[in-house]
Amino acid sequence: MGKYDGCKVESMIYPLLRKALFHLDAETAHEYTATLLQTAMRTPGALAMLSRVYAPATRGLGQSILGMHFAHPIGLAAGFDKHGALTAGMAALGFSHVEVGTVTPLPQAGNPKPRLFRLPEDQALINRMGFNSDGMHVVADRLTQRPRHLPIGVNIGKNRDTSLADATSDYVKCMQTLAEHADYVAINISSPNTPGLRQLHETSALRELLQVIRAHNQWQRPIVLKISPDERADQLEQVVGTALDVGIDGIIATNTTITRPNLHSALQSEAGGPTHTRARAHYRRRGHSECPGRVSAPPCRCKSRPTLHGAGVRGAGSGHAAQLGAGSAYAS
Ligand SMILES: Cc1cc2nc3c(=O)[nH]c(=O)nc-3n(C[C@H](O)[C@H](O)[C@H](O)COP(=O)(O)O)c2cc1C
Repeated sequence: MGKYDGCKVESMIYPLLRKALFHLDAETAHEYTATLLQTAMRTPGALAMLSRVYAPATRGLGQSILGMHFAHPIGLAAGFDKHGALTAGMAALGFSHVEVGTVTPLPQAGNPKPRLFRLPEDQALINRMGFNSDGMHVVADRLTQRPRHLPIGVNIGKNRDTSLADATSDYVKCMQTLAEHADYVAINISSPNTPGLRQLHETSALRELLQVIRAHNQWQRPIVLKISPDERADQLEQVVGTALDVGIDGIIATNTTITRPNLHSALQSEAGGPTHTRARAHYRRRGHSECPGRVSAPPCRCKSRPTLHGAGVRGAGSGHAAQLGAGSAYAS
């Protein structure tokens, strides 16, 4: 995505940085990278310099969707900036939008570590983070400092200890606290790492949840639903139909799969969701647009629903992979 000088800097520095980071376990590497970025955010002039280096060439790529302007299709999906602490840094690195979260009402630690696994031979990660979150009040406070020149979404979920019967009230609390500080809200019912969460795909539960959330959309933000890739095609049809009936603005397709597509690493039996770039490329070569867990997943279904906006979420292992996402309404 970088301009000529960005590419040069990246091609010199990135392999060294990658090698160093691969000496650390995956979550420590993530935290270290986040700390570096936060240091840059506090250093006068550093973000402006990063922006110059990484400013993407966006001519002809801009789109206005749901009242938001996206300079180009590649944004940062939920999971990297879970606590809303990196929005300005990610904007400087050239993303067109940043989705913060998943944020829960109360702070929670997430699953015990280790919970993020690197599978280099598969170019994959397995994560079972389990919604580690600083909680909605801390994140709302941080988002008051968010950059205003790009869309910032907030992805919301329920606390692990909240029963499914009470889940709606968790989403409503997040909506009331966070929507003011975001340009859109993503309703996450699809993480594989919060027990029972995916049961919210069931039609009557989903209808009730979405209706109540919409009724509490006092800031009138676009609301999108982030769905699972592991539902049957007829269930997905129901989910999209319900979202449409209730007046949800868009679908984010999709969260991580729980399937184990073509993994070779000894770590493949770790519980959690695999993000698997090589399998995806393999399936594309065979004419599928998605990874094995999603051969029947919703993006194609969404296309038959012209009043719903669709966002494709895919791990991008390289600039080339990122370009593959550019055909979506927008890609994260
Ligand atoms: C480490 C990690 C943490 C994630 N955390 C979240 C999260 O908190 N909320 C969410 O909606 N999606 C989360 N995701 C899922 C991504 O946003 C995205 O939907 C998913 O990675 C897409 O599937 P793919 O990686 O197979 O392309 C996470 C992904 C990873 C790799």
